[in-house]
Amino acid sequence: MFIPMGILLRDASLKRYAVPAPNFMNFKMAKLLIDAASEKRSPLILAYGGFFLKNSELNTFKEVAEFIRYIANKADIPVALNLDHSKKIEEVEEAIKSGFTSVMFDGSTLSYEENVKYTKAAVNMAKYYNVTVEAEIGHVGEGSDYIVQDDFTEMLTSEQDARSFVNDTGVHALAVAIGTAHGVYKGEPKLDFERLKRIRKAVDVPLVLHGGSGTGKDNLRKAVACGIQKINVFTDLINSAKGALVVKKEELAKISYFDIVDEMDRAVKNKFVEYIDICGSENRC
Ligand code: 13P
Repeated sequence: MFIPMGILLRDASLKRYAVPAPNFMNFKMAKLLIDAASEKRSPLILAYGGFFLKNSELNTFKEVAEFIRYIANKADIPVALNLDHSKKIEEVEEAIKSGFTSVMFDGSTLSYEENVKYTKAAVNMAKYYNVTVEAEIGHVGEGSDYIVQDDFTEMLTSEQDARSFVNDTGVHALAVAIGTAHGVYKGEPKLDFERLKRIRKAVDVPLVLHGGSGTGKDNLRKAVACGIQKINVFTDLINSAKGALVVKKEELAKISYFDIVDEMDRAVKNKFVEYIDICGSENRC
């Protein structure tokens, strides 16, 4: 079933688990993520970044949405399609009109006022299409800059900002910065769980954690226990595919193109299943 992200996150809030939100880059990856989630009876949020369009067989948001609608409706688990980290309101509008069931407007590097202005505009557009809007307050940075979490303290989400941002925008899901980072961490990830608990108390919308990769099972499980309902993951999936590519030179002649692609797909699928386990989303549908 192809459904709005809000419905998935509501169930996750009620039953205290998180929905995994892996990024996909093309047909094949979307299909194998749906297959993995179906085998585990897990709800799924497929996350798509606008920048993937240029390297994909999918040329427009309309094609992405139509294709995902088609394969999601053939699956018997609920699947949402979320535009990931869009910094342009025009792009958000295009995704909404193209049939995405959710959009993330990422104004986390803008001033508070500008972030509110554009997020509110996205919420207004989305209401006529039954689309869920996610936005970010505070800023989740890059793992390549992450030596120690103290370097990121300035960018972490405060409960005061979280509360006023939700009130000022009417946003449906809130991405928070509590010490994770995108990509590979240079240092050891350290999450501020006390901050997360305060934010959880301050707002009643589902909370989202970006930068899942490399954060570690224990940290992520604890984040779910403290109130996270969606975990975004990408780098770990791609790196596991790259890891599967290591083939000894003398074995290359015996291996077909399909063997290589299958091996990479298997690695992505296995890694994604680990995230389903971490989220606690298995057997939820
Ligand atoms: P990672 O690549 O660190 O897993 O982050 C993914 C993400 O947050 C996408 O929005």
